[in-house]
This record gives sequence, C-alpha cells and structure tokens, in this order.
Amino acid sequence: MHAQNQSIGYAPGRAEWLGNHTDYNDGLVLGVGLEVGATVTVQPAPDGQLVLRAEHLGEEMACGLDALRPVGQGAWANYVLGVAAGFLARGAKAQGLNLAIRSTVPMGAGLSSSAALECATARALQQAWGTDFDDMELAKIGQEAEHKFAGVRCGLLDQVTSLFAARDHAVFFDCRSLEVERVPVPPEARFVIVQSGVKHALSDGAYNQRRAECEEAARILGVGKLREATPQLIDEEERSGHLQGAPWRRAMHVVGENARVVTAVDALRAGDLTKVGQLMNESHESSRTLFENSSEELDFLAAEARTIPGCLGARLTGGGFGGAVLAMVRRGTDEGFVKSIGEGVNRAWGKTPQTLVTGAGGA
Ligand code: GLA
Repeated sequence: MHAQNQSIGYAPGRAEWLGNHTDYNDGLVLGVGLEVGATVTVQPAPDGQLVLRAEHLGEEMACGLDALRPVGQGAWANYVLGVAAGFLARGAKAQGLNLAIRSTVPMGAGLSSSAALECATARALQQAWGTDFDDMELAKIGQEAEHKFAGVRCGLLDQVTSLFAARDHAVFFDCRSLEVERVPVPPEARFVIVQSGVKHALSDGAYNQRRAECEEAARILGVGKLREATPQLIDEEERSGHLQGAPWRRAMHVVGENARVVTAVDALRAGDLTKVGQLMNESHESSRTLFENSSEELDFLAAEARTIPGCLGARLTGGGFGGAVLAMVRRGTDEGFVKSIGEGVNRAWGKTPQTLVTGAGGA
C-alpha cells in the first residue's frame, strides 16, 4: 500500500484498429489505447467487504469477499467483482476494501469501458493485496470476469490492449503465442471515434453466437481454431460443398483480418498510413458482408467519414452490432473532420453524434 494506505490503478479504454473477431480464434490483433480511461482508488475497509462506489455514475454497492457472485446482467459492478474473484481464485490474500471508481471511457460505445474498469481494478488490487501477477495474467483475470460475471465469451484483445498500451504506440498481439509488440504510430495519425448512438451490448447474445459460428467453421475445416485456416483450405472445402453459407463467410472474414493485421503492421513500420487506411476500409467491408456484425448506422458513418478530406480510413471497431466507427485522420484535419461528420449525421439522422478525438494513449 502507498502512503495513507491508498492504492491507485489506471487503465485506458481501447480501440480495435484492425483484427475484428480474430482474438478468440487465436488470431492477430492491432489495438490502440485511448487517452481516456478508468481509475480505481482503493483503501482498506473493515469486515471483509468490498464497497464499490462509481463516482461518475453516482452508484454504490457492497459485497462480502466470501460471497462474490454476479449481481445481474450488465451491471458495472460485475467487472470489479469478477476481477476480485479472479484474484481470490489465484490464492490472493484478500482483505476488505473501499473502491472508488472513476471512468472517462464512454459506455456502450465499443471502446471497452468494461476492460478499462477490469484492468484498472486489477492494477489497484495487485498493489492493495500485494500480488505480483504479470500483465498477461492480469489480462486473463479481466477476461475471466467477462466470461463468468458478464456472460460474454470475449477474447483477450481488450484487456491486453488496455494493459500494454503505450503512448504513441499500437499494440500488436498474437493471441496464439501471447506475444505482444508495441509498434510506433506515425505522428501524422489521429483517431476520431464516432458513436452510432445505438447501444452496444455484447452480452445480448449476438457476440457469443458469432463465436460459436467461428467454432463451427473451424470444426468443418478440421482445424482447432480459425487461426490455422488458410485461404486454400477454405477454398477447397467450399468447392467440395462442406463449408457453405455463414460458416464460410465467418472463416473468410477471420482469415482476411489476420492477413490485414500483418500487412498493416508492415505498413506502419514503413510509415505508410495510406495503406493502413485502405486496410481499415477493407476490414469494414468484410465485417459488413462476411461477418455481418455491422449495422446500417455504422455503414453510414464509415461511408460518410471516407468522404471527408484528411480521412485515411474508417471502420467499425470492437464487437459490432452498434457501438462506434474508428476513423483515422491526418493530424491537423481532426477538427474539420468532427465538424463535417457532425453535419453529415445531422442531415441524415437529425442529431449530432458523440465523437472522441484521440492519439494513441498509454497505460
Ligand atoms: C469485443 C471483445 C473482444 C473482441 C472484439 C472483436 O471487443 O471483447 O474480445 O472479440 O469484440 O474483435
């Protein structure tokens, strides 16, 4: 514990730059930390209780350390309680705590407000309870909280990006080997996240359904995970009539996304943002037609974004089915972009969209 017995954990929200629904297929992802995040401040509390106060929501709840269980679907507290349960399951010597939570990550926008909260909680508990899990283990604790306390069978993209995020760097993550590499982001790149205004709830079943479809495609292809599938194998199985319809489309998307991540990392290293932008556009198209996790609103925002001078590429980010579009714009054009997209959306929907302008933020 720090002076005054207080520990503070911070973790940023994340944007999925490329690599859509690749993580739980053991694939490749490129994430970027945001300049907004969650902060969890903890102090000892008596009676073996966790007392949670979400200051940005004005909500409070308490739970005994001996009775950690989910408190109803979608509740923010589950992300905190789930992480505490993960520490306990790994033998942490837990004591009662007061946890004061603050977050500046927009909720339900596909920016992983939940992962930011899990990772900030994990960092604070690590200090308070004196554990020494490495960041990959903390990421797994966060993922377990999603699986067991929120009912979302997510991969590790959100937690790994949040915990490994570094200012002016992207996080290139191989979900099979668990290797993480930080790749410098050229200074001309700025990100604008434009919310569709359609609430995105991963736990509504669509996400888990896509995951099951990927598993089905892998089974038909005779591979453990879609990471092992190649375009040739998919082609053969399609021509022989085994892999058709939705499983074929899901496999094509995942294989295409893995390839796009590799190409994008090379392009980033060469400073070729134009190429990265094209890959973002292709990724959105693949989500729209193959993975079918886009929506009318997200398609509109991505198309509108690309008409604006300075925009290099735009795609849906995160789980999909609502949430937000991530646009990459040239430095110096972000203000103009926000104005133009606001006008375009206003003309179409009669309202101004929420936007977030950010560079690559650190943990
Ligand atoms: C959500 C999940 C991630 C990942 C993305 C899609 O953000 O939490 O694990 O699957 O969707 O790429």
